[in-house]
Amino acid sequence: ATLALTSANHVYVTNKIRFDLIYFHCSITPVNDTKHFMVGAYKEHRLEGSSVRIISIFRRDSVQPLYCVFYCGTHWANGMKAEVQMHSDHFGTCYLVFSPALTHPNQRNKGLADTKLAQNQSFLRIQNLVKREEEKFQFNFTVCWSNLFGDYNNVLQVTQTLEMYKLLGVQHVVVYNTSSGSDLDRLLQSYTQDGFVEVVPWPIGKYMNPSRGWQPSEHGGDIHYYGQLTTLNDCVYRQMYQSRYVLLNDIDEIIAPYQHQTLPQMMDVLQRQNPKAEVFLIENHIFPKSQFEPSGRFELPRWRNVPGINIMAHIYREEPDYRISHPSKMIVRPRAVEQTSVHSVLRNFGQTVKVLPNVCHIIHVRVPLQGGLTKEELHEDKRVWDYERQLVPNVDKALEQAGLLIEGRKE
Ligand SMILES: *[C@@H]1O[C@H](CO)[C@@H](O)[C@H](O)[C@H]1NC(C)=O
Ligand SMILES: *[C@@H]1O[C@H](CO)[C@@H](O)[C@H](O)[C@H]1NC(C)=O
Ligand SMILES: *[C@@H]1O[C@H](CO)[C@@H](O)[C@H](O)[C@H]1NC(C)=O
Ligand SMILES: *[C@@H]1O[C@H](CO)[C@@H](O)[C@H](O)[C@H]1NC(C)=O
Repeated sequence: ATLALTSANHVYVTNKIRFDLIYFHCSITPVNDTKHFMVGAYKEHRLEGSSVRIISIFRRDSVQPLYCVFYCGTHWANGMKAEVQMHSDHFGTCYLVFSPALTHPNQRNKGLADTKLAQNQSFLRIQNLVKREEEKFQFNFTVCWSNLFGDYNNVLQVTQTLEMYKLLGVQHVVVYNTSSGSDLDRLLQSYTQDGFVEVVPWPIGKYMNPSRGWQPSEHGGDIHYYGQLTTLNDCVYRQMYQSRYVLLNDIDEIIAPYQHQTLPQMMDVLQRQNPKAEVFLIENHIFPKSQFEPSGRFELPRWRNVPGINIMAHIYREEPDYRISHPSKMIVRPRAVEQTSVHSVLRNFGQTVKVLPNVCHIIHVRVPLQGGLTKEELHEDKRVWDYERQLVPNVDKALEQAGLLIEGRKE
């Protein structure tokens, strides 16, 4: 089954064409004759009746009725009006970043059902057609990295993060890729070989001018932060019947358990304590990259030529300033999420729980947030070191496989 969105309420065409030829394989599909784009179409099993949700990038100053054309084998359903649900978090930019359009294939719009073939429409495959049971899921834990862009080449930190996640029980990492530095590109290509990393192409710059930061006043652009809200929502819907839990965090953040060895162990306990919880908020804690651990134990000579931050050298954590808003990231059960933002879920079916920082918090090695703090004013936090025995050799192996360890470089 496939679906196209159109500005015309029905589509007349005369000659027959092969549909697989006009099938779009790109993740961003322009809607003909409009300023909008389709990203993904997903069957919605959680609402009454039969509906399909279309994750879209919707130009907010160009509202117009949109209609759906369904095509399935030899059958057409034409001219069904789409209901547009705008995402409230648009951060003041020109393009609305996410608007799932709901449409009901059973509500035929009489008089408009034209069964002639549509030409020049771009069709999306409707995903999540089958509502799989949890026991049949391919993964228990999937991480979504909403955007990779610019010439980001933080190879060592990304390798350490991916290997930490493997040790913590994560089985799958999805990254929406606009662009990256050449070494990181090589690393990710290598991780896709065994399927641990899945790269979704995200050529947003072809269609609009994305902002590089989160503040429209400062960063400008048509769409907020490379369309982060769209990709996060798309990722949640893609994983809905594939992964029990989804971790929504950035590429330089690790959601780490502090009382359990792995995330499955931690979630077992949290879920038993909160049987109705579907969204778990995890505090972000900043580890300044400007503060180095003095012994230099993990400043391994073979990592010196690998570009990026060595997170094992940065073990001092800022105490969050709880007087100001303190952003969290999330572990969610995707089946309970209807619309998500970056730091919270906007619409969901279950309960939200704040996880205590001594149970779980984010290890986020980056520039300091509270710049002036000395080591004595920071907390020592060596959680990553607890995994050292497996982590170090695994990082070496991954770098070597990608041809990024000097010793492993053949050319
Ligand atoms: C697609 O857009 C083009 C250019 O605006 C228009 O001429 C054409 O009729 C549209 N096709 C359909 C099937 O709506
Ligand atoms: C469909 O696209 C082709 C190639 O771009 C164009 O020549 C043709 O006129 C289009 N047909 C319609 C109905 O828009
Ligand atoms: C997910 O976890 C359950 C137990 O919690 C286990 O039975 C199942 O095999 C796991 N699935 C995968 C794909 O690892
Ligand atoms: C990411 O996208 C860029 C630009 O299209 C491409 O050159 C690069 O190979 C992609 N990286 C991966 C890992 O797919």
